[in-house]
Amino acid sequence: MAKEFKRYLITSALPYANGPVHIGHLAGVYIPSDIYTRYLRLRGRDVISVCGSDEHGVPITIKARREGITPQQVVDRYHEIIKKSFEGLGIAFDIYSRTTSPVHTETASAFFRKLYDEGKFIEKTSMQYYDEEAQTFLADRYIMGTCPKCGNERAYGDQCEACGSTLSPDELLNPHSTVSGSVPVKRETKHWYLPLNEYEPMLRKWILEDHKDWKSNVYGQCKSWLDGGLQPRAVSRDLDWGIPVPVEGAEGKVLYVWFDAPIGYISATKELTPEWEKYWKSEDTKLVHFIGKDNIVFHCIVFPSMLKAHGGYILPENVPANEFLNLEGDKISTSRNWAIWLHEYLEEMPGKEDVLRYVLCANAPETKDNDFTWKDYQTRNNNELVAVLGNFVNRAMVLTHKYYGGEVPACGELNDYDRATLGELSHIKSALENNIENYRFRDALKEAMNVARIGNKYLADTEPWKVIKSDPERVKTILNIALQITANIAIACEPFMPFTAAKILRMLDTERFDWERLGATDLVEAGHRVGEPELLFEKIDDETIQRQLDKLAAIKAANLAAEAKAEPQKEECSIDDFQKIDIRVSTIVAAEKVAKTKKLLKLTIDTGIDRRVIVSGIAEFYSPEELVGKQVPVLVNLAPRELKGIVSQGMILMAADATGRLRLLNPDEAVTSGAVVG
Ligand code: MF3
Ligand code: ZN
Repeated sequence: MAKEFKRYLITSALPYANGPVHIGHLAGVYIPSDIYTRYLRLRGRDVISVCGSDEHGVPITIKARREGITPQQVVDRYHEIIKKSFEGLGIAFDIYSRTTSPVHTETASAFFRKLYDEGKFIEKTSMQYYDEEAQTFLADRYIMGTCPKCGNERAYGDQCEACGSTLSPDELLNPHSTVSGSVPVKRETKHWYLPLNEYEPMLRKWILEDHKDWKSNVYGQCKSWLDGGLQPRAVSRDLDWGIPVPVEGAEGKVLYVWFDAPIGYISATKELTPEWEKYWKSEDTKLVHFIGKDNIVFHCIVFPSMLKAHGGYILPENVPANEFLNLEGDKISTSRNWAIWLHEYLEEMPGKEDVLRYVLCANAPETKDNDFTWKDYQTRNNNELVAVLGNFVNRAMVLTHKYYGGEVPACGELNDYDRATLGELSHIKSALENNIENYRFRDALKEAMNVARIGNKYLADTEPWKVIKSDPERVKTILNIALQITANIAIACEPFMPFTAAKILRMLDTERFDWERLGATDLVEAGHRVGEPELLFEKIDDETIQRQLDKLAAIKAANLAAEAKAEPQKEECSIDDFQKIDIRVSTIVAAEKVAKTKKLLKLTIDTGIDRRVIVSGIAEFYSPEELVGKQVPVLVNLAPRELKGIVSQGMILMAADATGRLRLLNPDEAVTSGAVVG
């Protein structure tokens, strides 16, 4: 028998306030945690959901340095954007706090101080990288070098993003400072370490024996960490941004961000309610951490060890970490701007909050990395939300208005088909519960959509719009049932698509139903007058999708351009070598496709010397019409050669952009044809 809990404490990984939130964060962490929380609230459970911005750490100071502003200005900016965008998407935290809040500083300091006073830390002096030019120690991302595991030249002091390895600065080959670019030296510094090795037996039992129920990706990662043997881990850093280490002789040292951030869950709870201890210190509370897979070690090994070292706190009952979501085949990246940012989505796609929630849940990376594509987004919207859910609810509402002036008709005698349909409804509740409680949100969403599928099929099969002529009494029963199904959709959808659920309730003109009523066939009473039909979803056209794809293409091009390295310079040449080459500004006077080729155009050009034909491989980049009248530099004394039976006399000089597209080189003002380039 599963343990019964009196209350729930749900945490969602605190997003770094060094950038806005993107769809990867949403699919991995915030949509699942919101579904779970909304479900528990609907069931009337005592549940709180806490989150906030993670405002310390090196990436934030690097960003501030780059933009010439203070770290506080960086986090103020992103905290606001993140908080507002979560609200916009209906992510309903009970509190969204931040780790620069005074309550947090105090809570994290006291936590450290207690462990310090009780001798739970090891104090150790070691040699660490120091940037003499910038006069600073180089923690984590302030140092870069070559990854010893995969050879990536841009690996950080704490992690290689190319192969995912966790690293320490000492492992990097060819280390250099990201502050000044200089090669760092080693200097002595003192830090405090949490001896994780001492907690290993406790962790082994707690995870490997007692929590075989955890998701296999989570369990597997924990097992491999534990089997590899745990080491003492530094909980302080030499940095000027963070919570000062609250002991004598620790000037210039702050708490490591991964020490203070998870304590942020506790501080946020404290800010939310004076009864915070009941949520953190009672075995009757079910604590669940929603995170992405890169956070597993911190939530399953480090933070639990911290909590044990402190004493008095419960440990998480589950840590349902998700894998990663890619975007159009590429890894999402804040630094490379390869993402769909939530705040931009909300602005560009108003009224489509639930579409995003739906697509990200339906395609959530629960067991493996998944890919988000705009095409899939469009298909799911048009074929599932519009064609199934929206279509059914709309037909039920419109027909009720058309035949009965909006009054719910009475249900007459049921036939076998009615009973079979209602019977299907009765399974949905337990299937939904079972899936949500086991963190299988994709499957749960399918069950919720099944309610709409059942309804859609019911109307298609019973055809009330035909039966109304022959048997109007029968239609009353059909529409009564259709409206009961509609009300069931409002319940089943709420955790996933709260805006849609609210719209349906408004259309039905009823109060929110209890979760326990899911499956009931008497949700709306005969004689009750329903509200006006509203469209739940709209078709999304190709142009809307193309605009988003164009936006991504522009980002990709900008990235390629930024990362492009110019080819090395060629061998030296003399002016005489150069004089041999005859380049003339020429005007294109005619252009046509070369038959049976994709890439070639036949161009007639005026070189000033003569008119001649050149065959050029630019058909993929320019249409013939665009070219006529253009002036271009042409290498005119190149030996002629034959291409597809046409003699080509010269070569148009062009340059490729970062994506490999050839671009013409026009004079910035018209020049006489034949003018010498040199
Ligand atoms: N900011 C971290 C990240 O985005 C998550 C911090 S979770 C917390 O990966 F537990 F430390 F708060
Ligand atoms: Zn690597």
